[in-house]
Amino acid sequence: MELKIVNQKNITIKIFDNSQLGCEYVAGRIRNLIVRNNGLYKTTVLGLATGNTPTGVYKELVNYHKRERLSYSRVVTFNLDEYYPMNRYHEHSYHTYMHHHLFNETDIHPDFTFIPNGELSASEITEYCNQYEEQIERMGAIDIQLLGIGENGHIGFNEPGAEIDSLTRKVKLALKTRENAAQNFGGIKKVPQEAITMGVNSILKANEIICMAWGKRKAKVIADFLHKDISIERPVSYLHTHANVKLVIDEAAASFL
Ligand code: PGA
Repeated sequence: MELKIVNQKNITIKIFDNSQLGCEYVAGRIRNLIVRNNGLYKTTVLGLATGNTPTGVYKELVNYHKRERLSYSRVVTFNLDEYYPMNRYHEHSYHTYMHHHLFNETDIHPDFTFIPNGELSASEITEYCNQYEEQIERMGAIDIQLLGIGENGHIGFNEPGAEIDSLTRKVKLALKTRENAAQNFGGIKKVPQEAITMGVNSILKANEIICMAWGKRKAKVIADFLHKDISIERPVSYLHTHANVKLVIDEAAASFL
């Protein structure tokens, strides 16, 4: 059950009883867009996130494919980020994550799924990042960009200090981000120090942004996002400059509002 809809200028806030209902809502919006575009033989361009937040969305999208035969053959995806350095077949790469949660379970074409490459040599990175931006531009624009929020206010791997006009690039991960990943990796020393991430500006170019957060752990960053000014120390706050943002959260993440 959706509890309430609050409109904050350009941000529509939807608070659900729990994350599953929130994920069903988000997946439903993506489904409707794909159905409409498929009917028009049009490509749907999705910006995808990883981490714990969107897994329920991907589960629903897989269900649509298996139950309703929803086809992803006209869907193109761009992932936000990947650790660097990172072998694509590493169990904690975002490449592995996406194939496990979505790509292997649907009919999406492997050539239409773009994830930053964590295997490049240092000298190849700048040109590669420019090409990543160009690939997105060639598709027109991202129709829907999914986002999670870090407890430190990061979006993608745009950590505190990231500029609003930043584009795809290599970045240093914040200590907090690496600490949060440490359990998965089996210790902080095993978490890469860097990543390749779409920039804040790359994200803001999407037509619609759906930002999700679940659980008490995210309550403070959500309250700061909604109640405080735009700040370079809280990259999520840059979303206030976008015309079409949906913030989809559960009761626990809304508990400081
Ligand atoms: P999480 O991370 O989805 O694993 O909570 C979100 C993020 O750090 O962007």
